Amino acid sequence: MATPRVLLTRRWPEAVERAMQDRFDTVLNESDEPMSQADLARAMGKFDVLCPTVSDRIDAEVIAGGDRVKLIANYGVGFDHIDLAAAKAKGIAVTNTPGVLTDATADIAMTLLLMAARRAGDGERELRAGKWSGWRPTHLIGSSLKGKTLGLVAFGRIGIATAQRAHHGFGMKIAYYARREADPAVVQELGARFYPDLNELLAASDFVSLHVPGGPATANLIDAAALAAMKSGSYLINTARGGVVDHAALADALRSGHLAGAGLDVYPHEPQVPPELLGLENVVLLPHLGSANVETRTAMGEKAMANAVAWAEGRELPDRVA
Ligand code: DGY
Repeated sequence: MATPRVLLTRRWPEAVERAMQDRFDTVLNESDEPMSQADLARAMGKFDVLCPTVSDRIDAEVIAGGDRVKLIANYGVGFDHIDLAAAKAKGIAVTNTPGVLTDATADIAMTLLLMAARRAGDGERELRAGKWSGWRPTHLIGSSLKGKTLGLVAFGRIGIATAQRAHHGFGMKIAYYARREADPAVVQELGARFYPDLNELLAASDFVSLHVPGGPATANLIDAAALAAMKSGSYLINTARGGVVDHAALADALRSGHLAGAGLDVYPHEPQVPPELLGLENVVLLPHLGSANVETRTAMGEKAMANAVAWAEGRELPDRVA
């Protein structure tokens, strides 16, 4: 087989770009700007392997753009931006990068939780604006974490890693909503209480952290009714996918004070941020930083590469999702 042609749709950390270039005939998107839908569609006819990211929309039209791509090796764990059915219909395999983002994403969930609970965003904005008038007993008082209940919506790798940080590091009680009960060892380690009903979990939690995959099955899972089911004065954290939350309803809940705060890392149409959130002081807004540390972004490249190498060598794909 001739050396496969591979396209990286965005720049990767240098070490993994170099490794890809050493192994494959690799083309980089030098500008690092998002590629247009038309350019992505054209790429389907020019490359053997496409390595997109969460910032690309690999929809049915893109997939119909050409017949050369045989593997979509996604640089990331979530794959709701790829039309799996369209890929499957054309015999294109799809892989992702599970496991290597778990700790980094759980760290960002805790960052958001702490920032929202302790009003760190408001404080930083106030200070930088030259408006801090000095220490006083009632200034920017937040909520403590110890003894409070953290409710995880889905209890997979990232949900569990977040719960471990919250429980062992901050003394939080753990509750989770999932389709089935978790591994007994994890339940015992965390004293985790299982809620098969989402609304019951929401009503029992002081902090709720979302860890479901994106896509149609979870679109607007946290809608106005779900927000109303949350405890008065509680907090919502989202490091999963923006489409899981109805942001107009979230803004209402934050404005009315029903929710004390929220922390978000993801949005439905990134890089747009729902404008109704931008003027609110009680929401922490991060620009999709979940996996953003050198070690994790390097490991994501290594995993995407391992899938491409397995494909090139005709071996079973380690992280096949379709
Ligand atoms: C993923 O891999 O799905 C993340 O959202 C990127 O950080």
